Amino acid sequence: MDRARATTPSEVDVSTPSVARMYDHYLGGKDNYEVDRQACAALSEAAPGTAALAINNRRFLIRAVRYLAQEHGIRQFLDHGSGLPTQDNVHQVAQAVDPASRVVYIDNDPIVLAHGRALLEQNEASTVVQADVRDFATIYSDPEVTGLLDFSRPTAALFLSFLHCIPDSDDPAGLVEQVMDRLPSGSAVIISHLASDDPEVRRSLTDMMLTNTQGNWGRVRTPEEVRALFGRLSVVDPGLVEVSTWRPDGIAPEVQETKEWIEYGGVAFKP
Ligand SMILES: C[S@@+](CC[C@H](N)C(=O)[O-])C[C@H]1O[C@@H](n2cnc3c(N)ncnc32)[C@H](O)[C@@H]1O
Repeated sequence: MDRARATTPSEVDVSTPSVARMYDHYLGGKDNYEVDRQACAALSEAAPGTAALAINNRRFLIRAVRYLAQEHGIRQFLDHGSGLPTQDNVHQVAQAVDPASRVVYIDNDPIVLAHGRALLEQNEASTVVQADVRDFATIYSDPEVTGLLDFSRPTAALFLSFLHCIPDSDDPAGLVEQVMDRLPSGSAVIISHLASDDPEVRRSLTDMMLTNTQGNWGRVRTPEEVRALFGRLSVVDPGLVEVSTWRPDGIAPEVQETKEWIEYGGVAFKP
């Protein structure tokens, strides 16, 4: 029995690919199933750079969290659509700068909760909550969240490789705005988002993901549309870019041989 199967919570649907488990597979993780690996194989055939894109997105997350902790003294992180635990998770990066840093992970996939709880058992400054990010009432009144994060203090809201899971009908820009409205001046947002300038790429890869997730996804957007998600927040240098080029730390990015789609994004502050 493999490790994933040994720890599968009963409510995990192993017959439909899950975004969290597909992403885990792309990152070299073990918490995924045949159905996820097949979906990844089909996606990689249509867009061969996807595995490199996932790795580069994850490295962007690490650099951006470290930047906010080291250079701006941010000590609270709210990670929306956090995904399965992997290497260098947000709390590990932030707590390497200051062990008192607090992190709340939010994801609606039950497998994230199961594996996250196991990882965080010994970590009193971090927790994982199973919730739909669109459900503010649940998240902001959850004692596990309010017991850990003090929303009168600057907080970083993370939306990494997540907002493309949200359809236009659920207003992803409004989601970011509502979260930032609840946070004080000096708070930050990190966003990365699947994007392409090519309408045919956007259509075909969106269709594939909608089929994979049985309609439970958003869409690939244009870089301009991703820019709009930042609203009136102040974007820091180097602005919004393909994320492997955001404040590089000397570790060479994975070569994304073809760029059918990119992870596009950056970091911004609430003035
Ligand atoms: C591609 S993964 C990104 C993981 C991580 N943020 C990163 O960039 O490394 C997207 C995650 O968003 C989660 N997700 C999708 N829609 C969601 C929703 N409405 N509420 C909460 N989580 C959601 C998925 O379960 C998945 O774990």
